[in-house]
Amino acid sequence: MTGLDDLTRPPGRPPRLLYGADWNPEQWPEDTWTEDLRLMRRAGVTTVTLGVFSWARLEPEPGAREFGWLDRLMDLARDHGIGVVLATPTASPPPWLGRLHPETLPRDEDGRTEWWGSRQHFSHSSEAYRRHAAAITEDLAARYARHPALVMWHINNEYCTYDWGDEAARTFRTWLQDRYGTLDALNTAWGGDFWSQRYADWDEVLPPRRAHYLRNPAHVLDFRRYTSDMLLDCYRAERDIVRAHTPHLPVTTNLMPFWSGQDGWAWAAEQDLVSVDVYPDPAAPRAGAHENAFLADLTRAEAGGRPWMVMEQAAGAVNWRPVNRPKPEGLNRLRTLQAVARGADAVHFFQWRASRQGAEKFHSGMLGHSGPRGRGFRESVRVGADLARLGPRVAGSRLPAGGVAVLHDWDSWWAQRHEGALSDRLDQGELVRTWHRALWEAGLPTTLAHPHHDLTAHPLVVVPHLYLLDDTALDNLRRYAAGGGRLVCGFFTGVADPDDRIRPGGMDARLRALLGIDRVDEWWPLETGDRVDCGAFHGTLWSEELVPAPGAEILATYRGGELDGRPAVLRHGPTRYLSTLPEPAALRALLAEAAAEAGVRPVLAGLPDGVEAVRRGGLLFLLHHGREPVSVTVPGRHRDLLTGATVDSALTLDRFGAAVLEEQP
Ligand code: GAL
Repeated sequence: MTGLDDLTRPPGRPPRLLYGADWNPEQWPEDTWTEDLRLMRRAGVTTVTLGVFSWARLEPEPGAREFGWLDRLMDLARDHGIGVVLATPTASPPPWLGRLHPETLPRDEDGRTEWWGSRQHFSHSSEAYRRHAAAITEDLAARYARHPALVMWHINNEYCTYDWGDEAARTFRTWLQDRYGTLDALNTAWGGDFWSQRYADWDEVLPPRRAHYLRNPAHVLDFRRYTSDMLLDCYRAERDIVRAHTPHLPVTTNLMPFWSGQDGWAWAAEQDLVSVDVYPDPAAPRAGAHENAFLADLTRAEAGGRPWMVMEQAAGAVNWRPVNRPKPEGLNRLRTLQAVARGADAVHFFQWRASRQGAEKFHSGMLGHSGPRGRGFRESVRVGADLARLGPRVAGSRLPAGGVAVLHDWDSWWAQRHEGALSDRLDQGELVRTWHRALWEAGLPTTLAHPHHDLTAHPLVVVPHLYLLDDTALDNLRRYAAGGGRLVCGFFTGVADPDDRIRPGGMDARLRALLGIDRVDEWWPLETGDRVDCGAFHGTLWSEELVPAPGAEILATYRGGELDGRPAVLRHGPTRYLSTLPEPAALRALLAEAAAEAGVRPVLAGLPDGVEAVRRGGLLFLLHHGREPVSVTVPGRHRDLLTGATVDSALTLDRFGAAVLEEQP
């Protein structure tokens, strides 16, 4: 078993897309359970996630086990033909764990304790937490390993805790000893001679707690690497327990959407299928459409191009923004189809039935407070019917390989976001989103990649901003360009090595040779709202005092101000270098031109504004993110799998409308 394949292709039955939600029936009287299952059947639900926050129910006191309620639910799910994604309950320890073992509670950088009373109040480093988490996981796995309803494991939930406490200090030292071997090597890597920070004893090494002034960036960088690794270690421990009982079932954990704390590449490599939580703001449908596309491209890339899973999205409103708007009619369906278009084989929601109590009582569910007659539930039924129709043609298929690759790496993101930076406006994550959005708006097939990945399948690679690049990455980029690949590289890239030490010359010499840069004399960050005139466009956020190398062609020049007459954009062989961030339309045009030169074409030419086209498994998905009806020209004859209608060279998409077209002979 390596993922969703067996689940989406049940033996003797046509392939299907999974559809479901977190189900928290322990919050409800038992007489609602069969009604829930009946309504799930009506909505076309295939699978539910059980038990995410059920530790206090399963283990009401230390060592006790209360499985009866879960036995009944598992049996009911089986009887109704619904598969169970069973969660280990370890994201929210029962209050008794914190009472008996206060050291399980994480501390923030000021030394303040995160108490029970919410969730995720556990230290990744706590031996007691890990012991208790392993014990409940072991018993859960042993009990349900052979239950016919069990189809998949969901470990913990959105691993996202930091810890600066004493237990963390202990494991941080061990992590550093593994990385550096000796204290001398650590002192060298962290530049211990700066501000007298040389350590004489391992016991002096602490997590980067509150300090008088700027903290050591190499120290903070290692703490971020360590935190991602420690959380991953917690995941692996539970994964290995459940795997030993059910080697044939996939194991996943739901990643937070593009969260800076988890190295998504490293985490994905440890999962049988990659799943992610996706919550774009429904108040801004166009920005949300891009966010959905971006997260889909990232998750698919993390999954190595294989089908992936939306573990959570909201059917309507969430309850954690300052103002929480519901999804307007049709948007839930559109977002679901968009995720499927971009490679998802499974779409789950948080949650099935909206809670009446607790911190999330205003969060939507597939079955909202207005009940089965409400708009939300009717839309859940419609989405289920659409997915059932698409499943046999779509499940298991992939998007075409190639297209544009956007490079992103957490290591660089962590190093770049430091309190002693040249500009706190600079954020690699935001830049990656901005460049991806420009490509998405240009209608180009796009994915993400790690700078170590084999890039040869991509005619065009873009690097929005990678401050830190190791030697492997730099050599990879050089090889890629030497082999005929085209590269567009953004500013302030290749500046630091893996110890966050500035490379001689302020930018790696190999990269300068590749990009046609003799040197960068000064970096000139810009204030928010500042624009710098570059002739054909305006630059924002950043600018540079560049000296080009012989052979570099100057494509744009700064006009006015201190950088007057200096190059802003360079072309050198197959590469372009952007020393500023062009405004959105200019960035889009520039990347579209580079894509055209590289032979990457938009998925479908001539689309009206707001319409997205995606090809998956030989089908053409058309997704309309606007509210006014539009007419779309599609050469040839097609059948719309959603309606069964024949489409002869054009079709109309209504507000938030979608079509999934199969070419007809
Ligand atoms: C997620 C979380 C869910 C639920 C949801 C609400 O972060 O995994 O348990 O809280 O947010 O939007």
